[in-house]
Amino acid sequence: MKSEIIFESGDHKWVVFGRDPQKKNEVIDTNEFVIINNGEAMILDPGGIEIFPQVLSEITKYVSLEQIKTIFASHQDPDIASSLAMWLDLIPDIKIYCPWLWTGFLSHFGMGVNFTLNGIPDEGMEIKIGNQGSSVFAVPAHYCHSSGNYSIYDPKSRILFSGDIGAALIPIDYPLYVDDFASHIKYMEKFHLRWMPSTQHLRSWVRRVRAINPEVIAPQHGAIFAGANVTKFLDWLDNLEVGKYEMGAETTDINKTIWLKWKK
Ligand SMILES: [Fe+2]
Ligand SMILES: [Fe+2]
Repeated sequence: MKSEIIFESGDHKWVVFGRDPQKKNEVIDTNEFVIINNGEAMILDPGGIEIFPQVLSEITKYVSLEQIKTIFASHQDPDIASSLAMWLDLIPDIKIYCPWLWTGFLSHFGMGVNFTLNGIPDEGMEIKIGNQGSSVFAVPAHYCHSSGNYSIYDPKSRILFSGDIGAALIPIDYPLYVDDFASHIKYMEKFHLRWMPSTQHLRSWVRRVRAINPEVIAPQHGAIFAGANVTKFLDWLDNLEVGKYEMGAETTDINKTIWLKWKK
């Protein structure tokens, strides 16, 4: 698994982990982010069980286990947080924040470990990175794609972690940052058209993010948007009509099959 520092100023740092050449082909590639502030660390979307050993060995090149204080899970998907029990096993007092809507569901990843999930309210909240020092903000991103979902904004670095918004299914050797936005669209379009269920909620997320005015948008899959590409990305989302997947007909072949086999 590769890692790179994407922001560093004083005692504040962001590191991205991903582009894992060791992962199985059928496992979708994910980006994990770690914010280190004042010697304490927070992991954003720690990832799935399948990649836990690689993530752990790469993260501990930057911080010791004792320094990792907080985990944020943007939503309930297995690629986001199915590794929770492993992290809890190593760091029993780690604080986990996730959407309140998914606390009962994410608890299924517990594997017998005792833990409490801190539910983020619908309107979002401020979350401390560690026990002292700076905070980040959980910004509502409901229905983008999950019904209970948040981005994370860090005012110190002006980076917005966008979860699955901006996700791109890219080749493993793709650059970390989006270069030519127009040619990047082909890696994002199908993902957004199928996984994002609501144009209305996507538009409100874009409005919220424009008001925050981040310098960088970092998604959980694919490449990072920086500089002029942040505005290009938000403009692209503002013109996208999602949630339109059509089966083509009210009744489908499966109806015919059922009727033919079970008509008597
Ligand atoms: Fe997801
Ligand atoms: Fe994802």
